Amino acid sequence: MAGPIPLDLLPDSALIADDGWLAIGGVSTQSLAAEYGTPLFIYDEAQLRARCREAVGVFGDGVAYASKAFLCRAMARLVHEEGMWIDVASGGELHVALTAGIPANRCVFHGNNKSLTELRTAVEVGVGRIVVDSFDEMDRLDALNARPEVLLRITPGVEAHTHEFVMTGQDDSKFGFGWRSGAAKVAITRARSSNSMRLVGLHMHIGSQVFVADNFAKAIEVVAPLAIEADLPELVVGGGLGVAYVEGESAVSITDWGRAVLDVARSCGIPGRVTAEPGRAIVAQAGITIYEVGTIKALPGIRTYVSVDGGMSDNPRPVLYGSGYETFLPRATSASRPRPIRLVGKHCESGDLLVREGWVPENLAVGDLLCTPVTGAYGYSMASNYNRLLRPAVVFVADGVAREVIRRETHDDLQRLDA
Ligand code: LLP
Repeated sequence: MAGPIPLDLLPDSALIADDGWLAIGGVSTQSLAAEYGTPLFIYDEAQLRARCREAVGVFGDGVAYASKAFLCRAMARLVHEEGMWIDVASGGELHVALTAGIPANRCVFHGNNKSLTELRTAVEVGVGRIVVDSFDEMDRLDALNARPEVLLRITPGVEAHTHEFVMTGQDDSKFGFGWRSGAAKVAITRARSSNSMRLVGLHMHIGSQVFVADNFAKAIEVVAPLAIEADLPELVVGGGLGVAYVEGESAVSITDWGRAVLDVARSCGIPGRVTAEPGRAIVAQAGITIYEVGTIKALPGIRTYVSVDGGMSDNPRPVLYGSGYETFLPRATSASRPRPIRLVGKHCESGDLLVREGWVPENLAVGDLLCTPVTGAYGYSMASNYNRLLRPAVVFVADGVAREVIRRETHDDLQRLDA
């Protein structure tokens, strides 16, 4: 038995309209589903903007949105309008940002295996920072005959409390220059004397969906002395701030996280610019997914499987990381949810799981719209076409108006690359 869906898991503007339906940004989720179809990603635009402003408010200029969490041209523009830089981790993400009209010097280019072509493009367009991740990358920069401003990514040897797949600060990592091995010092020495890069600071990122403030503090305490010793003015502490996905979880705000991180950096003696690059904390809770229920299979003595019209192709996180989500019916947002279900998709495998332990009202029926909240981060951005499913549409809603920022794919789209 579960009570009503906790409202703090829903977008800020969520409210229950007079007809009983959930509205976001002043638009009924029922009418959004009717107009744009399902599955559908709905984002509260005001919330996205507010989170960006919050990040700029606490960190100041230079704080970047980690676009891997969710990117399209409208999102890139929104982030830029609100004063954030954009962290891109591939030539593809950079391309989206540039074609959205974002000035290259507001982009930070990441990646543990940037190709020569990607680096050449980044240098030619003039990205604001390149975060150098390896000695091989330094060799590639040497071949480019340019002198971009760079940060070095340092691996502090700190194990963040999160899923193994999204932990990045430990010694055994494909990312960055290890602190414990001494690689970091060698990299700093090489970068400082290099004619193919201007070293302006250090970068770290310990992982994603991290709740433990102490993890960030420990990493900063490792990296800060390196920055001070090398007289480097800038420190980027990465992203990784966790968000609440299910009832009972709670997370700190971007402001509180920022203040804590800045306090540690200052107390370690970093005098200059300290920034960050949150992704999930900007977008996760602003987004929900709405599906249509197609099949309800009650297996006596076992469980009830509820199948919807999407699945692991629009949200692979439950399968990849065992991530939990809530379920509720937007026609009955404040209703108790006594009925346990397992929410699954329409893909041809048993692993196609969306919510292992979901709860819904007793009167759930085929044809109902069903929501999973907190799907704004790493859902659409990791979506696939498995089983040739069409990737969903994405809408931004604000002030009673919806705008489609990514249209639903068509079967023709799926054929575009075929010979
Ligand atoms: N900076 C760097 C260098 C990163 O690699 C990442 C995320 C971020 C910032 C943003 O982290 P955030 O604030 O979003 O936690 N697909 C996984 C998450 C992978 C995160 C990858 N890097 C998931 O769905 O949980």
